Amino acid sequence: MKERLNIYPVRNGILNDAIDRIVVKLHGQKKKYGAKSFLFTGAGANGGTTTVAINTAIALAEAGWKTVFVDCDLRKDQQFKRITTDEVTTLSGYISGKVSGSGSIVNKTDVENLDYIIAGDKCENPVRLLSNYKMETLMVELGEKYDFIIIDTPSVGVCNDAELLIPFVNAYMFVVRMNETKRRQLVDARIALADYEDKFIGIIANRLELFQYKGMIRDFDYFSNGSLAKKRKMAMIKKGGQKK
Ligand SMILES: Nc1ncnc2c1ncn2[C@@H]1O[C@H](COP(=O)(O)OP(=O)(O)OP(=O)(O)O)[C@@H](O)[C@H]1O
Ligand SMILES: [Mg+2]
Repeated sequence: MKERLNIYPVRNGILNDAIDRIVVKLHGQKKKYGAKSFLFTGAGANGGTTTVAINTAIALAEAGWKTVFVDCDLRKDQQFKRITTDEVTTLSGYISGKVSGSGSIVNKTDVENLDYIIAGDKCENPVRLLSNYKMETLMVELGEKYDFIIIDTPSVGVCNDAELLIPFVNAYMFVVRMNETKRRQLVDARIALADYEDKFIGIIANRLELFQYKGMIRDFDYFSNGSLAKKRKMAMIKKGGQKK
C-alpha cells in the first residue's frame, strides 16, 4: 500500500478566492459541455502554471469532485518537483512499459478526492513518450474514473509538449506571470496552438500585485466583516438621510 502524497494546499484567502474563479469557469465548462479534462500551460517558463494547476485541482477535490492531477512535465528532474519519488510507478514508467496498468501509477494524496500521477524523472525523449498510444489510453481510462482531470505541462514557449496533449483534453488555458510574461510570448503561444483555438478557454494572470488584483475586481473586499458592516452602515445612513 502506497503512502498518501503530501500536497500542501495554499491556505491564503486571497489566493483561494482567485483559484475559486478558475473553479467556477471549469465547473461551467463541465455543466455546459460535459468537459472534464483541462490542460494548463504557460506562455513563458516559470509563470506559475504548476502552482495554479495544482491549487485548482485541490479546490475541485475539496468541492467533492473526484479529481486527478497529472504531471506531464517530463523535462524536469525530480529534484525540481514538489513531490519526490524513487519509484518507477510514474507516468514515464507506465508509458515506457516499465509498469503495467494505469491503476498502479495513481497516488492517493492527503487531500480527500485528489489523486496524483507523478511524471517521473527527466527523460531524453518526452515527445516520443507523450505521443505514445498509451497516453491516449490513459486519458480515456482516467475519463471513466474521474470528474476532473487536470494536466500540467511545460510552457509552450519552451517546448511543444502541450500541443501534443491538447487533442486528448477538452480544454486548455494559459497561465501567465503578470509584469513578467511578454505580450509577444503570449501572442506566439496563441499562434503555436492556433489549430486548437476551439479548445482555448482563457488566460490566467498569475502573480499580480495585490493592488492590481483589487483594481481588477471591484468591491474586492465586499464580504470581509469590516467592509460589509461599514457598507451596511453607510447604506442605513443614506437611507435615513433620504427620509428627512
Ligand atoms: N501566485 C504566486 N505567488 C507566489 N509565488 C508563486 C505564485 N505562483 C508561482 N509561484 C512561485 O513561482 C515559482 C514557479 O512556479 P511554478 O513552478 O508553478 O511555475 P511553472 O510555470 O510551472 O514553471 P515551469 O515553466 O518551470 O513549469 C515557484 O517557486 C512558485 O512557488
Ligand atoms: Mg511547471
